[in-house]
Amino acid sequence: MKMFAVFGNPIKHSKSPIIHQLFAQQTGVLQNYRKIYVPINNFYKKFFYFFKNGGIGANITIPFKKRAYKLCDILTKRAKYSGVVNTIKILNSKKILGDNTDGVGLLKDLQNLKFINTKSNILLIGAGGAAQGIIYPLIKFGCNITIINRTYQNTKKIIKFFKNIKNINSLKEEDLFSISNKFKYNLIINATSSSIKGNIPNIPSSIIKPDVFCYDLFYNFNNTPFLKWCIIHGAKRISDGIGMLIEQAAYSFYLWHGIMPNTKIIIKKYKKYN
Ligand code: ATR
Repeated sequence: MKMFAVFGNPIKHSKSPIIHQLFAQQTGVLQNYRKIYVPINNFYKKFFYFFKNGGIGANITIPFKKRAYKLCDILTKRAKYSGVVNTIKILNSKKILGDNTDGVGLLKDLQNLKFINTKSNILLIGAGGAAQGIIYPLIKFGCNITIINRTYQNTKKIIKFFKNIKNINSLKEEDLFSISNKFKYNLIINATSSSIKGNIPNIPSSIIKPDVFCYDLFYNFNNTPFLKWCIIHGAKRISDGIGMLIEQAAYSFYLWHGIMPNTKIIIKKYKKYN
């Protein structure tokens, strides 16, 4: 049976194996997909061990997406332009192909939710691999993105990475606080890992207008701390990242098997909001 896995830290609560199992059942594909916990400094060792022992594809999650990018022989356009890889496929030539399905997966979910249009003004919170991985498809779609992050130095690194791309700019946290009334964002995306430890990023509540869409890349059983905070401050349309997770998984599945699963049924099963 073809072997696949998701590599990450933490990984215990990952829903990827169950999503891929549902795709496999739906499409009749036979595959074995499991979680692999990777100690922070052991990514390369675990990665090559898996592929030397029959693995043919993998998803890569927090915090290894930038490291995965570096070890690919070939990159898809969307991986190359984002600088991070969340999907690996071993080609017949044994070369490592890297793709990034996070950005397209998020865009698809935002479109399903009607949270986005080609003129959306987006406030993107966070400047790590997760944030970097979703920027390119959103800009290509036509949106404007403003990045804000706890550490401004990391914001500057992302801006530098996308230096040839228009429609992307940054703000310091304190600037967003001092001029928040001047800005109107249509969509606020939390791409920080703050929810993992039950924290929320530091943004002014005045940017939460009743018609703003609030999206957290993170997901858990209840609303994430960020989404709870948005609701308290008046947000009416919110979503966690479960739809994105399912959509990005579908693009990975397509890369591996050439079959696009039907995501709608699975999203309906898992999503708290419609
Ligand atoms: P990932 O690859 O998942 O994005 P990462 O590269 O470690 O992981 O980045 C995590 C992001 O979450 C960063 O933007 C980080 O902010 P810093 O650049 O200041 O470290 C952000 N983050 C993590 N915990 C946070 C918290 N409690 N409040 C605000 N931002 C937080």
